[in-house]
Amino acid sequence: MARKKIALVGAGMIGGTLAHLAAMKEMGDVVLFDIAEGMPAGKALDLSQAGPVEGFDAQLKGTSDYKDIAGADVVIVTAGVPRKPGMSRDDLLEINLKVMKAVGEGIKANCPDAFVICITNPLDAMVWALREFSGLPHNKVVGMAGVLDSARFRHFLAEEFDVSMEDVTAFVLGGHGDTMVPILEYSTVAGIPVPDLIKMGWSTQEKMDAIVDRTRKGGGEIVQLLGNGSAYYAPATSAIQMAEAYLKDKKRVLPCAAHLTGQYGVDGLYVGVPIVIGANGVERIVEIDLDEKAKANFQVSVDAVKELLEACKSIDESLK
Ligand code: APR
Repeated sequence: MARKKIALVGAGMIGGTLAHLAAMKEMGDVVLFDIAEGMPAGKALDLSQAGPVEGFDAQLKGTSDYKDIAGADVVIVTAGVPRKPGMSRDDLLEINLKVMKAVGEGIKANCPDAFVICITNPLDAMVWALREFSGLPHNKVVGMAGVLDSARFRHFLAEEFDVSMEDVTAFVLGGHGDTMVPILEYSTVAGIPVPDLIKMGWSTQEKMDAIVDRTRKGGGEIVQLLGNGSAYYAPATSAIQMAEAYLKDKKRVLPCAAHLTGQYGVDGLYVGVPIVIGANGVERIVEIDLDEKAKANFQVSVDAVKELLEACKSIDESLK
């Protein structure tokens, strides 16, 4: 059986890390695409030379020609610009929207059967626009945000509880970052919900609130520390988990930005919700009952996404 093909559109910090992870895991052959000439080929060559040492067999190719992504099984999109200190994700909208148009058209022409994972920010708007420009079915286009937000949350919870990160699960809904809605009742240590752990004296509500706040601002904290660019290791790892769920038909239940058609009272938007990812892409949307507080927080998230879509439509007439 021929190897799978993974196309990475955007070969910057996240794109390069994605290529490294995909090769190390032998997920398939990797094409790194970028408008910057030479750089993707340089990264591909460098990574290929890690192959003999690490012992992976994967062909890596760098390109600036969309034809090279033809027939890709998975496309992961990071093309665009990242945040600089002081910028919000929404500040990237105008420039990254233009990038999504070019990328969407490239995917449509070359690999319309691919499973597409968008990482470019502002995520919930960019994944929607990428889907519109590419014309792919909604179940084949998803956004990576929830896996990362919940990974940040899990990391902070594991530190607070002094337990393995593996045993911490976290449940988040809503938009990426600042408007994410963590549901503590569904976040657990080995199945024990966080409110029970508070009752058991493992932590306090105040500490949980501080962790939720730090998680929401988790991306910004890293932008400040790096000084020039945004997070890339954890975002890449999160997207790889989604790609593996698709390629291996794992039917993983993961929080992702998915297209809603009435679930959670939302129609026609991409918002972060738990979904099942398998060989058919988004196979199911998991809809849970929310209490009033979570509903109100989720609505704030949805309204923020709506506002961004309106901004997209006013910039690009074809999206109306
Ligand atoms: N087509 C292809 N690649 C493009 C295009 C385009 N039209 N425009 C820009 N790029 C490339 C840049 O040349 C750069 O190499 O996208 C790459 C982005 O890489 P970085 O600047 O290193 O950014 P990165 O940290 O990888 O983040 C990418 O993901 O998390 C989000 O907010 C982040 O939107 C940003 C994206």
